[in-house]
Amino acid sequence: MKGVILAGGTGTRLRPFTNIVNKHLLPVGEYPMIYWSISKMVKCGIRDILIITNRGDLKDFKNILGNGENIGGNIEYKVQPYAGGISHGLLYAKNFIKNEKFILMLGDNIFEDSLVPYVKNFINQTGGAKILLKEVDDPKRFGVATVDESTGKIISIVEKPQQPLSNFCVTGIYMYDSKVFNYIDSLTASSRGELEITDVNNIYILKNEMSYEILQGWWIDAGTHASLFKANQLIQEQFNNTRNDNNE
Ligand code: DAU
Repeated sequence: MKGVILAGGTGTRLRPFTNIVNKHLLPVGEYPMIYWSISKMVKCGIRDILIITNRGDLKDFKNILGNGENIGGNIEYKVQPYAGGISHGLLYAKNFIKNEKFILMLGDNIFEDSLVPYVKNFINQTGGAKILLKEVDDPKRFGVATVDESTGKIISIVEKPQQPLSNFCVTGIYMYDSKVFNYIDSLTASSRGELEITDVNNIYILKNEMSYEILQGWWIDAGTHASLFKANQLIQEQFNNTRNDNNE
């Protein structure tokens, strides 16, 4: 399976730093934020990874990550010419993915779980899509899923609802078959002027081709100052725990 990481956008909530550096290159622990997404993919055997970012930031990514060989990957790059939304960015992966199933990650998501079991389950699924959910206290900031736990199906997803119907946030970890590119072609821009990933996911749900699982460990969208600080704390704690385990 291949992997795609989105690392474009404007990073407005992390100004003033993002006036001079792409959000996904800001430090989380001792690595740039995007390193953690790459590392999760590499740990499940995904080596061929495409990073999609803004034209002006491309050089910085190449300087830091190169072709990925130092971190066990084989990294390619594509430019998203403007921040037209997550689905818009994903379109630039079409030639890289061709007809395969793949995993898409938002480069500002940092989390504890290993992706290995989820990816394995998706490989065994006949086509369609899979998303990973996480119960959060503040669902209004995210895509929010209503699920029918008796059937194991998602009923629908609403992007940043005023009155969320559940606490299940849709994380930025998505698995798709290549039909996703046709579904994106059928989208129109949302009220915030973006091609929304939530609209794509709702198409899979309507076609009864969407599965979900719930992340067990901590998960964070490191796109604000407060959440970036929290991500640094959690990664540091994880590092300390691993070191203590190794010393025992
Ligand atoms: O983090 C999970 C949430 O991510 C989901 O719950 C939402 O459904 C989903 O819409 C998204 O919401 P955000 O408001 O956090 O999206 P944001 O605009 O911050 O962008 C998320 C990531 O995608 C970030 O790493 C930057 C990248 N991106 C974003 C846009 C709009 C791109 O690469 N290109 C883009 O055009």
